[in-house]
Amino acid sequence: MTIPREMTAIDPVAPGGPEVLQAVIRPVPQPGSGDVLVKVAAAGVNRPDVLQRLGLYPMPPGTPTIPGLEIAGTVVAVGEAVTRWRPGDTVVALVAGGGYAQYCVAPEGQCLPVPAGMALTDAAGLPETWFTVWSNVMDRGHARPGETILIHGGTSGIGITALQLAQEIGLTAIATCGSDEKCAAARAHGAAHAINYNSQDFAAEALAFTGGRGVDLVLDMVGGDYVPKNLAALADEGRHLSIAFQRGPTAEVNLGLVMRKRLTLTGSMLRPRPIAFKAAIAETLEGVIWPAFEAGRLQPVTDSIFPLAEAAEAHRRMEAGAHVGKIVLAVD
Ligand SMILES: NC(=O)c1ccc[n+]([C@@H]2O[C@H](COP(=O)([O-])OP(=O)(O)OC[C@H]3O[C@@H](n4cnc5c(N)ncnc54)[C@H](OP(=O)(O)O)[C@@H]3O)[C@@H](O)[C@H]2O)c1
Repeated sequence: MTIPREMTAIDPVAPGGPEVLQAVIRPVPQPGSGDVLVKVAAAGVNRPDVLQRLGLYPMPPGTPTIPGLEIAGTVVAVGEAVTRWRPGDTVVALVAGGGYAQYCVAPEGQCLPVPAGMALTDAAGLPETWFTVWSNVMDRGHARPGETILIHGGTSGIGITALQLAQEIGLTAIATCGSDEKCAAARAHGAAHAINYNSQDFAAEALAFTGGRGVDLVLDMVGGDYVPKNLAALADEGRHLSIAFQRGPTAEVNLGLVMRKRLTLTGSMLRPRPIAFKAAIAETLEGVIWPAFEAGRLQPVTDSIFPLAEAAEAHRRMEAGAHVGKIVLAVD
């Protein structure tokens, strides 16, 4: 296959609204010795891409300015140290940037096979949320079958993935959503209970649902004034997992509650983590979660697909907040 020197990509020169996401011509990136070069068929859209577009995301040094944290496509070239992949293989990959483009470089260990029978436009939406949710709920939160988890933003890309993980490992999931329609969607995707955070007190609801015991884990993307309420909703030995702070990075923490209930407060940010860390998660997901997709126990939840050139529309849809699951860009 001939690899062109140039490609179409979305690479805004300045932060701004969705309109800065214009298709431009950029050089095709070169794979390093441990990388593969992928001809991108589809790229997932994630909320951190919106923050990056707005200039609000702390970009790890050396990451491409082209947005896009996950791709699916065909390997067209490999670095000399790559052992697993060959040109012609179809892969899905977590990348630190560069996904909104016709070609993208991915470290070998961050690539997984496309689950058998899955469309590339569905597969492209898997990595960012699965790596994030697995690493927080399982590796940091030590979730165990039979426990209960409160998932904020239950119909977000992250939220749907967390609901699916809960189903797969046997957690009871409670979701919060901003409307009754989204609550219904969260229940349809496995939430045992869904709380409309605009009309209900989620902490009181979670406590009532658990018979006053509280939840074992909170997956929190809200922060700010949600944190004290999350802590109130946690059971003894509960784990509070911070992955974003849409209502602010600072919070009031009642240390008495932390001590009395022996709570753990933790969190993480996936993007700046080293390749070896991400490769270890990739191996686990391929062994534990990909078979669930192949067996049909889990289904990808793709909200909508936009052509790469309409990335601005994709961001508008995300910012409007009506989506359920993943928004994806199709790349020709
Ligand atoms: N730490 C990491 O490594 C990492 C990685 C990926 C993503 N993230 C973060 O995870 C979050 C979800 O990402 P995504 O790509 O899945 O985005 P998304 O689909 O756009 O979801 C955003 C979600 O936030 C929810 N939300 C906003 N305010 C809320 C509130 N007051 N109470 C409850 N839920 C609220 C929304 O719920 P409604 O629409 O129902 O209002 C929506 O479901 C983002 O904040 C993102 O930055 C973190």
